[in-house]
Amino acid sequence: MAPPSPTDPVAIVGASGALGFGLAVRLARAGVPIAIGSRKAARGQETAERATAAVPSGSFSGHDNAGAVHAADTVILSVPFRNQSETLANLKDALRPGQLLIDATVPLAAAVSGKATRMLGVWQGSAAQQALEMAPEGVRVVSALHTVSAASLCDLDDPLDQDVLVCGKRARGQARGGAGDRADRWSALRWTAAAWRWRASPSR
Ligand SMILES: NC(=O)c1ccc[n+]([C@@H]2O[C@H](COP(=O)([O-])OP(=O)(O)OC[C@H]3O[C@@H](n4cnc5c(N)ncnc54)[C@H](OP(=O)(O)O)[C@@H]3O)[C@@H](O)[C@H]2O)c1
Repeated sequence: MAPPSPTDPVAIVGASGALGFGLAVRLARAGVPIAIGSRKAARGQETAERATAAVPSGSFSGHDNAGAVHAADTVILSVPFRNQSETLANLKDALRPGQLLIDATVPLAAAVSGKATRMLGVWQGSAAQQALEMAPEGVRVVSALHTVSAASLCDLDDPLDQDVLVCGKRARGQARGGAGDRADRWSALRWTAAAWRWRASPSR
């Protein structure tokens, strides 16, 4: 597979939400074209317009979630835990072998009306392992971005001097290499927007 280029698009499923929108504007400001996904194509387009207003130099396109996934080799999944499984089930025909799926889901107890400060146990071991189980064969899954605040991402003046932990299991070398490739690409964000420091480690 050809190494990723800084101009390769990234799709964000759930980009109308807090984290997805923040990632969209930050990555776009670093020069990455963003395919914005929503359950409703009209909301995807409206979100693309909102993102363009925030970052006029950015390249945004609005889609339904499947359309966004078709438009990029790297896909960020940014939906609430209670909707992660349903969203991946709906995308099983859109995701394709070779894509990198970056799952940002945090299994907060708020998903079942519990406290947002508590985590839920996930039968598979973690939200990322649930994503791995549900993603079609050949899609590389890594888990990242859980500790990055949406508010900080959306505040384009925030220096974001933070570590982002990247975990992956399937085809360890590939997943880590894949995440590393993207980390290199997103280092544009690090250099232009902030000092994002990436570390890669296997999930187990
Ligand atoms: N917020 C943060 O600071 C932050 C930080 C790190 C990690 N995270 C994690 O990132 C994920 C996204 O967080 P968020 O705060 O961005 O969530 P959010 O704003 O509540 O939702 C994100 C998007 O998920 C989509 N979605 C899909 N199915 C849905 C359903 N059945 N009901 C409602 N929305 C649905 C919605 O997009 P459409 O309606 O357009 O489809 C929504 O805009 C979560 O797993 C969270 O734990 C969040």
